[in-house]
Amino acid sequence: MTNKTLLVTGGCGFIGSNFIRHILTKRQDWFVINLDALTYAGNIENLTDLDVEHKSRYKFVHADIRSLDSLQHIFDRNRIDTVVHFAAESHVDRSIHNPATFIETNVIGTYNLLEVSRRYWENLNRFETFRFVHVSTDEVYGSLGLQGYFTETTAYDPSSPYSASKAGSDHLVNAWYRTYGLPTLITNCSNNYGPYQFPEKLIPLMILSILEEKDLPVYGDGKNIRDWLYVMDHCEALLTALEKGTPGHTYNVGGNEEWKNIDIVYRICDKMDKLLERSGDKSSRRLIRFVTDRPGHDRRYAIDASKISNELGWRPKYTFEIALDETIDWYMNNMRWVDKVRTGSYRNWIEKNYTRRESLK
Ligand code: NAD
Ligand code: DAU
Repeated sequence: MTNKTLLVTGGCGFIGSNFIRHILTKRQDWFVINLDALTYAGNIENLTDLDVEHKSRYKFVHADIRSLDSLQHIFDRNRIDTVVHFAAESHVDRSIHNPATFIETNVIGTYNLLEVSRRYWENLNRFETFRFVHVSTDEVYGSLGLQGYFTETTAYDPSSPYSASKAGSDHLVNAWYRTYGLPTLITNCSNNYGPYQFPEKLIPLMILSILEEKDLPVYGDGKNIRDWLYVMDHCEALLTALEKGTPGHTYNVGGNEEWKNIDIVYRICDKMDKLLERSGDKSSRRLIRFVTDRPGHDRRYAIDASKISNELGWRPKYTFEIALDETIDWYMNNMRWVDKVRTGSYRNWIEKNYTRRESLK
């Protein structure tokens, strides 16, 4: 289909901004409306360097999904073919300290967006296609033991306020499909990494702390496992689901790259020591501190992505080692961006929460 207009929520965040770049590059006749409230995690900076040609197919709208009226206003004034819903509070640690905004944005905000989308879609000519793509997480499935994988039929069992709020939003999306027929799709993916990730998440936090020779807090014994997915692979999976996915279906997306947290931290230390010419008693591994575990910390996540692979033909292209090296290079070459996003409020939060953690060793 040509001239498709996407409404992307949360497009100033980490994955949303990478996704917008990807879409404007890969689909030369598509338009993007980026709706974002610009919370601490949303940075207009993430998209200021778009090509001139891309800018002509891009519009930013400052709005909050917690306001149904604001959403209605946007839907009343724009043609929208597809909604891609990223906007969320996304950090597990923050959800433990302040769950309220997670319920407001992730649950109520998703409800608002579904309801406004439904009204809009019900007024469309029945020959027009409309899609609502909800970007969700593998954390809704809870924790795995040493064996097994999350599939699309794994029962929901969320552990944190964040994952419970995302689980709630997934249930709402499915209800709007089953009850009203709104053509929705859900993707549940594993841990993303890559450029523009806010430096509160494990990988960018470790990179910047090594650069600045600060402590590297590793929760618990460091043996929790995550399945890492390069953000560009995720963006391509979303484009694939949007174009080829079946309404009412869920697609799990993962990188097939299971790593223990501590092994990632070692790897980043060693790679950066080469770049920074640090060795001996200056090696970055000396900065590692095992700290009090995250409450309700899920032990292992691992995705079985065979459905999206077999049915829609998507596969991850990047290996963790290579894409992690590229990510390290990106942060080291983009310190101006880092300084911009690390505002006073971010610094205060990090200081308050990380100094409060008790060191175990
Ligand atoms: P992020 O925190 O980097 O960005 C979130 C964006 O949403 C920001 O731009 C923020 O300003 C915006 N936002 C927050 N509240 C809003 C509101 N009330 N109204 C409008 N905009 C609002 O998040 P991310 O890591 O890019 O994650 C994007 C989505 O992908 C989330 O839904 C998250 O649950 C999901 N997800 C993320 C990962 C991951 O590893 N990062 C993995 C699986 C799923
Ligand atoms: O699995 C998908 C999820 O991945 C997404 O839904 C979330 O939005 C995203 O934030 C991410 O959640 P995690 O909690 O897994 O990511 P985080 O980077 O916070 O932590 C990764 C692992 O590293 C986790 O086991 C906790 C640990 N950790 C994290 C931080 C920030 C540490 O040991 N030390 C740290 O300082």
